[in-house]
Amino acid sequence: RERLSHLSTISQALDLFRTARNIIVLSGAGISTSCGIPDFRSANGLYAQLQQEGKYELDDPQQMFDIHYFREHPEVFYSFAKQIYPSNFTPSPCHRWIKLLEDRGVLLRNYTQNIDTLESLAGVTKVLQCHGSFATASCLRCKTRAPGPTIEPYIMSSQIPYCGSCRQKRDAEMEAKKAYKAERRKARGKGKGKAKGWGSGSESEDEEEEDEWGGGEPGIIKPDITFFGQALDSEFDECLFKDREEVDLLVIIGTSLKVAPVSEVLTHIPHSVPQIFINLTPVAHVHPDICLLGDADSIVTWLSHELGWKIPPPAAVAH
Ligand code: OAD
Repeated sequence: RERLSHLSTISQALDLFRTARNIIVLSGAGISTSCGIPDFRSANGLYAQLQQEGKYELDDPQQMFDIHYFREHPEVFYSFAKQIYPSNFTPSPCHRWIKLLEDRGVLLRNYTQNIDTLESLAGVTKVLQCHGSFATASCLRCKTRAPGPTIEPYIMSSQIPYCGSCRQKRDAEMEAKKAYKAERRKARGKGKGKAKGWGSGSESEDEEEEDEWGGGEPGIIKPDITFFGQALDSEFDECLFKDREEVDLLVIIGTSLKVAPVSEVLTHIPHSVPQIFINLTPVAHVHPDICLLGDADSIVTWLSHELGWKIPPPAAVAH
């Protein structure tokens, strides 16, 4: 009986793939593990590795991606960042399967939590990188945005990049203040003996003014990957608001669904939309219509085979 219900689940999944026209694929780190990129929460995942290494003295491994911790200890993230910097990885069958859905005209959007950009490398264009990427980086102070590659040398050499725009702004302000102080000194010299009034500040007042810029170094630049404590780009809400009207199948793949708001996508989509969950391990807090447990690459390869679809080979992938 168990076998029969198992088979009917699979045939239902195949039917859903045959008929769906607007599929949302919600993906996570589990679709990139076969590329050699660890996920976060598995026993051999990044958080377990950070805990075992004990190198960074974190109270909790998630602090590595916490914006408050980053502001206090940017050197910790920058001594680690090269480990997660997208380098020479090749998309997995899962990434290429998402591309296949797009080529067949049935992908509404891929909401990925991954920052490895492997979906784009597989040629997927309808992808939203919900947790950002290394493609750009921004100054935490003046918000100036720069192309990601400008900070690549800092990441590779474990150094903290500081903002050039802030530095220029600070230098310009310091120059202006110097000129202003010189003017005031001149004016004081001329007006010696007159009563002190507004604008006749002492040297110590001038020194205080010098610190007005805020003191310290210019702003730290952080790659535009979303840290805990940072809001997602408004594009996430905008896309979801639009897509929820059109989606007819939700496929969740390779994610523990532990991080909001991405994990809440399930509740924002009408209940009438069927959900297929493909993952190595079960996730207790969600109850999808169909749960296919196992290696994601093997499952999508098998499904495609049954459907008579052909996953594009790695060679066809745009680099
Ligand atoms: P997790 O590490 O939390 O979950 C990955 C899931 O993929 C786990 O449930 C694994 O069992 C499963 N998995 C691993 N290998 C697999 C395979 N070959 N086939 C199928 N499933 C496999 O990663 P995410 O859910 O992506 O955010 O994590 C979400 C967010 O938490 C990340 O984007 C990151 C992290 O903290 C930030 O840093 C902001």
